[in-house]
Amino acid sequence: MFSLPNNATIIEVGPRDGLQNEKQLVQTADKLAFIQALQHAGIQEMELTSFVSPKWVPQMADAKEIVKKSPKVGRQFVLTPNAKGVELALEAGAKSVAFFVGASNSFNQKNINRTTEESMENIAPLIRELKAQQVFIRACISTAFYCPYEGKVHPDVVIQLCKQFVELGVDELSVADTIGKANPVESYELFSALRKELPNTLLTAHFHDTRKLALANIYASLQAGISRFDTSAGGLGGCPFAPGATGNVATEDVVHLLDSLGIETGIDIDKVCQAVSYIEPHVSRPIETGMYKLFKTHSS
Ligand code: HMG
Ligand code: MG
Repeated sequence: MFSLPNNATIIEVGPRDGLQNEKQLVQTADKLAFIQALQHAGIQEMELTSFVSPKWVPQMADAKEIVKKSPKVGRQFVLTPNAKGVELALEAGAKSVAFFVGASNSFNQKNINRTTEESMENIAPLIRELKAQQVFIRACISTAFYCPYEGKVHPDVVIQLCKQFVELGVDELSVADTIGKANPVESYELFSALRKELPNTLLTAHFHDTRKLALANIYASLQAGISRFDTSAGGLGGCPFAPGATGNVATEDVVHLLDSLGIETGIDIDKVCQAVSYIEPHVSRPIETGMYKLFKTHSS
């Protein structure tokens, strides 16, 4: 019989993953209001934005302003794919950096215009430099279960990539079901294997909810000993270069699942829903997560 943890950590990715795929530009002030409302709900770890090419992802073009103007609460990540991104992130004052690499080559090429091996060659010296400056580093492993171009990704490929990152000295691995295709058995097996192979590394699960299996996958990951989850308020999100990738699993629904299992997160669901209500008018699709619908019913 497995035992559930007493506490779990939510890493809010709404301001970054949640908004990056929105075609209509969300104003910087609205993003900042969203970030502050999420902080008010008790979020202590958040992906604020990404320093990527504004030609590739116009929605993240205000990254510098977002970092400079966000109140400093807890650990705040910015995503960077390369040296230019790191340079801009440090200039803006970022203290924690997230690199992202696809376990599948085809996805990595579509996403960052490099093979996985080329990305690792580019990133390795950056990780060493950042570690020397005491920067906290997370590595996000995309397409860890399925690739939209290559299909099923073998767990050994993911484990080897994760090991490479750990040998380089990263502090955390966020392992992602980019297109929301994993099932609970696959989630349990991959995270159990990663826990066994990398017992001293912080492991985080990042599920997209395309096929509505994300909560089941989170439960399976809890059984595998994972207690860190990337989630997005309102279930917003998706990667512009992963066709079929819809929103991340919703923060409010994950916190509800964890609350109901007696697992503490320090996060107030109603306040997360309040944050969702601030961003809702600025995004293109309706927000219909379970807990947000309930919130709207009891607050109307
Ligand atoms: P490239 O065209 O090969 O770039 O794109 P390049 O190195 O040839 O440079 C071209 C131009 O881009 C140059 O400017 C560079 O200075 C500029 P120019 O001389 O033409 O004026 N440039 C940059 N500008 C700002 N910030 C930078 C940067 N780098 C170069 N960092 C590149 C390569 C990586 C830049 C591009 O492919 C890119 O920006 N990709 C971003 C893709 C992205 O953001 N994807 C979403 C995030 S990942 C994700 O969502 C998955 C995750 O959630 C987990 C999961 O669910 O799987 C994390
Ligand atoms: Mg994602």
